[in-house]
Amino acid sequence: MSEIRTLTIDGEMISAPAGATVLDAAREHGIRIPTLCHLDGLSDTGACRLCLVEIEGNNRLQPACVTRVEEQMVVRSSSPRIEKYRRMILELLFAEGNHVCAVCVVNGHCDLQDLAYDVGMDHVRFDYLHPQREVDSSHDRFVLDHNRCILCARCVRVCDEIEGAQTLDIAGRGVASWIVSDLEERWGEARSCTSCGKCLLVCPTGSLFEKGLRHADSSRKADFLRYMVNVTRRQK
Ligand code: SF4
Ligand code: SF4
Ligand code: FES
Repeated sequence: MSEIRTLTIDGEMISAPAGATVLDAAREHGIRIPTLCHLDGLSDTGACRLCLVEIEGNNRLQPACVTRVEEQMVVRSSSPRIEKYRRMILELLFAEGNHVCAVCVVNGHCDLQDLAYDVGMDHVRFDYLHPQREVDSSHDRFVLDHNRCILCARCVRVCDEIEGAQTLDIAGRGVASWIVSDLEERWGEARSCTSCGKCLLVCPTGSLFEKGLRHADSSRKADFLRYMVNVTRRQK
């Protein structure tokens, strides 16, 4: 039988299995913490920092998706400080890429856009970097627009952990990082790609999409992950 930890989130005393993350525990009890790089069914990397929470006794905000519950932990998922950070992170993501929602294939179905609405982000206070990034349309069926990529690595993880192809990876550092295929070949030349399309389904922005789609044409169906994870577990 698994051990149980008792903790408090937003004043509510709850229990969670040892090893669960603060995010798991919060969601299990109906407490919403915003996320971007996290997706149920994939491993967590703590990349986006949208899920930051306050933990009593720790001055630094901690990402809920990679922080394990501890006995007597006291967590706050919302405060003026946290809201300020979340908004700043979102503004930086918009400023670092080229996110023009009005002409995007996932306009209205975009996690980044939804989160910006949620925090009331009506403008960006940072200078836009307007990077000149490549749009890789070398694949027969799919397009990778690096301009809209926020480096959440969901595509990298689904390709590795669910499809098992290991086609995608992140190369470079900081804002100069980018998604690469195989040995930094163009996607269409990556021989390991099975063209399964799973990376498109989990991308939270319009960075990955199917050829031939027009503005606001594409919706995401990341729910397939839960089904696949359950099937894989049953097979083991
Ligand atoms: S289409 Fe499938 S195999 Fe190809 S990069 Fe995407 S997830 Fe990986
Ligand atoms: S292509 Fe999409 S899923 Fe992949 S890292 Fe960029 S934003 Fe995330
Ligand atoms: S969702 Fe936790 S760091 Fe991205």
